[in-house]
Amino acid sequence: MSGKNLSEEEVKRLYEEGRAYLIQRWEPRPGVEEPIVVWGEGAYFYDARGKRYIDLISQLYNVHIGLGNREIIEAAKRQLDELAYSSPSYFNVPQIRLAKRLAQITPGDLCKSFFSNSGTEANEAAIKLAQLYRGAPKIISFWDAYHGSTYASMSVGGSARTRQLLGLSIFEEFKHVPAPYCYRCPFKKTYPECDLLCAEFIRYTIEKEGERFIAAFMAEPICSWAGQVVPPPDYWPRVRRICDEKGILLIFDEVMTGFARTGRMFACEHWNVVPDVETYAKGITSGYVPLGATIVNKMIGDYFDERGFPHSYTYSGHALACATALAVIEYYYKERLAERAAKMGAHMMEELRGMQERQPIIGDIRGLGLFMGVELVANPETRDEIVPRGLTPEQRLDPNHNPMVYLTDKAKEKGLIVGTSPGTGIIRMMPCLTITEEQVEEGLNLLEEVIGETAKRFDLPRKP
Ligand SMILES: Cc1ncc(COP(=O)(O)O)c(C=O)c1O
Repeated sequence: MSGKNLSEEEVKRLYEEGRAYLIQRWEPRPGVEEPIVVWGEGAYFYDARGKRYIDLISQLYNVHIGLGNREIIEAAKRQLDELAYSSPSYFNVPQIRLAKRLAQITPGDLCKSFFSNSGTEANEAAIKLAQLYRGAPKIISFWDAYHGSTYASMSVGGSARTRQLLGLSIFEEFKHVPAPYCYRCPFKKTYPECDLLCAEFIRYTIEKEGERFIAAFMAEPICSWAGQVVPPPDYWPRVRRICDEKGILLIFDEVMTGFARTGRMFACEHWNVVPDVETYAKGITSGYVPLGATIVNKMIGDYFDERGFPHSYTYSGHALACATALAVIEYYYKERLAERAAKMGAHMMEELRGMQERQPIIGDIRGLGLFMGVELVANPETRDEIVPRGLTPEQRLDPNHNPMVYLTDKAKEKGLIVGTSPGTGIIRMMPCLTITEEQVEEGLNLLEEVIGETAKRFDLPRKP
């Protein structure tokens, strides 16, 4: 009990009003009551009934420093007292300071920023910057990726969940290639004998499409939607070389992987590869206020210095958002959260490997730092997918037919939040970087319980 819980009558009324006045989200499940969050502290949050949840995905993979951090709240309050907002036609102090700070902490010669309000908008800006700079319309990216919900960001993401919605316009000039998903290699090859066929397929696609029509290759350094797919060590250096040879830009979407999440400030540092454009949101303010950022290298920055970037928002460079981001970034360094993510991630990985010995439906575990994925399978030898093929849309969201929906519901019942979706066997785990070992243990114990219960319920392989 949180002490901030509402009466049952109030909670029921809120649910009714939510159903009456809010457009339902993706894949709504009528009758299922998602938590109404009223407050939180670190890795825990509490719903309106006072139930506590241990959150292994930091809300939507963004509250890197945990909920309720007083230092950040006070910094935001100070900025509100001074200046909440100024027109994007002018400058404000936090906006300039944040742009400078990003230039200092980002890799290579990334140096000039455009601010927006979300990851979607950061990617939309990146796409336009690349197209205008190159004078070319096409973008190549991964199948099974998510880069946002506006038309361009949705089209660049190859995920079937958005691309196969009837009625929406998908930009057909955006092309897709397979992610380096070694556990289920679409080319049926094994690394390193494959000689990175998946990277070479990018070269092939560029040549087939015609390099003069291609603005950029765009991807997350570790593709989350495909299932926290960590590429082999030489993958990104090879892709960087291909982009350079072909004269196209490399854009990294670090909306999810950026800001200490993977054990480095930015995930591209794991491969020592510097993109031409990089995008941020989520961890840049750790969810305390909305902010997106798109940073470009000097060459692109200089180009737009002369011509201007024909793209803006009323809230570009919002003073409150930029001041909060500055406070959050200082917090990452002060608390050494990248190092902490690396250490806690290694600990969690070891615990999960132990769990894999006991739970045969855990097919694969991958990730870097506190950016982890556990892939459940119906059969560890054949790697058969755990979500049965051919489910009807209703069965897909039904816990009696879909083991992943069953698992997610059971976890919530027990007060555990992990990241799943009804279409894949992947459990994403990205707790706040301040999570303690005891909290990791609490979360993983609950996870093991629900994995075991799911295997039993669906008659999947189990250890006696
Ligand atoms: C990799 C990636 N890019 C972009 C986005 C879109 O960010 P936002 O929801 O802030 O618009 C997301 C959101 O989850 C994401 O994971």
